[in-house]
Amino acid sequence: MIGPGHERLDDYGRDESPLPEFFPPECAVLVDSVDQAAAVLRICLERKVPVTPRGAGSGMCGGALPIAGGVVLSTERMKTIKEIDAADLVAVVEPGVVTGVLQTAVEEQGLFYPPDPASLEFCSIGGNAATNAGGPRAFKYGVTREYILGLQVVLMGGETLRCGRRTAKGVTGYDLVAGFVGTEGTFGVITELVVKLLPNPPAAATVLGIFKDSAAAGAAISGLLRDGLRPRVLEIADKHSVDMVRPKSRYRFPDNAGAIVLLEIDGDPDMMAMQMEKIGMRCDELGALDVLAATEPADRRALWEARRLISPSLKAAYRIKVNEDVCVPRGRIVEMLARVDRVSAETGIATAVFGHAGDGNLHVNLLANDDPADPAVRKRMWAAAERVFAHTIELGGTLSGEHGIGLTKRDYMRMEQSEQVLEWQRRWKAMWDPANLLNPGKKIPARTPVCSE
Ligand code: MLT
Ligand code: ZN
Repeated sequence: MIGPGHERLDDYGRDESPLPEFFPPECAVLVDSVDQAAAVLRICLERKVPVTPRGAGSGMCGGALPIAGGVVLSTERMKTIKEIDAADLVAVVEPGVVTGVLQTAVEEQGLFYPPDPASLEFCSIGGNAATNAGGPRAFKYGVTREYILGLQVVLMGGETLRCGRRTAKGVTGYDLVAGFVGTEGTFGVITELVVKLLPNPPAAATVLGIFKDSAAAGAAISGLLRDGLRPRVLEIADKHSVDMVRPKSRYRFPDNAGAIVLLEIDGDPDMMAMQMEKIGMRCDELGALDVLAATEPADRRALWEARRLISPSLKAAYRIKVNEDVCVPRGRIVEMLARVDRVSAETGIATAVFGHAGDGNLHVNLLANDDPADPAVRKRMWAAAERVFAHTIELGGTLSGEHGIGLTKRDYMRMEQSEQVLEWQRRWKAMWDPANLLNPGKKIPARTPVCSE
């Protein structure tokens, strides 16, 4: 346990969200087992103490911040890969297993766990399930929910529940597993996961399209989508994002990159060259200034390292980085990119846009070097974020494609969802946690108080 006065306690009051303040808990309990997690949740219900579940603390929306004080229940020490079964194509893992560690372990056996959040070197699988994390490969393979077959969850009060299956298919009963995934630790604490694996694709190749600007790159992505091309990754990064990683990147981005489209294909090794040529030719026709292929593992690794460096580099360069993960229908990607430019022009706030454009999922970063603690600055940044949200919703999109709602987006939920929809979600939460002690104040805004005359 990390208790009051411990030098590490404050760490449990922070995550990767853009909030300047931190929320130290009264203590953090780093559990080693399901029984310990159950004991914490039993005692906390008995004593009416709020509990905030936490994985690796890599969340970007404040979902793991103990805003009501009380206890942080961390699963970071539950790191065992209990089983990798190549016949059943499943792995059974504890929630603290780092996503990249699981990927390497299954790849050593010729298997594949596709979800690849950018933070895969340090985020954990329990947190990925809690937020239903995505990543570049979601374009072809889907998000975390599609890979969680079964769960062990401890509920507030200490009851342990096993739900789901380890079969490839299954429609027995209601889908409680899907119901728990993405609830950001508000329904229960995940203590074990059965994840679906695939055979590892025998070959993969990466193609980089260089475009004059993000409008041209966005138009090319729309064109590729209309063609029905299905690479495993279809990403965009605008000039600002590319310029941020240039000095650090082992991959030398061409000087004329006003925006890039990053594509990756996988499958039969004999088909790679043909597929790359086809994609390269289409990129040319769709206005690419240049198309480069990275087939050597070292080049591909360097390119991906650079892609994963975008967000940390922006964070290092700006004192304020409000990073959104809005998602628009695929037909509206070009329009959304234009509207982000408009928000930047209207507010004077610098932006950088990158992310999973093939899914319509754009990381719109609002950037400034003002004092993050200044309320006026904060108001200005979030007012700009609200404009981005308004455009997203006007285009038929959604506030969060993969990071979750947590704390930072909770009060914008009404922009997208009706009071009726919110109310059903509150009732659902109350079924699992009637005392509202498990990660209170997250995900869903409180009921609007009714004013009496
Ligand atoms: C990414 O795709 O890089 C992340 O989801 C966004 C981020 O780390 O800012
Ligand atoms: Zn992302």
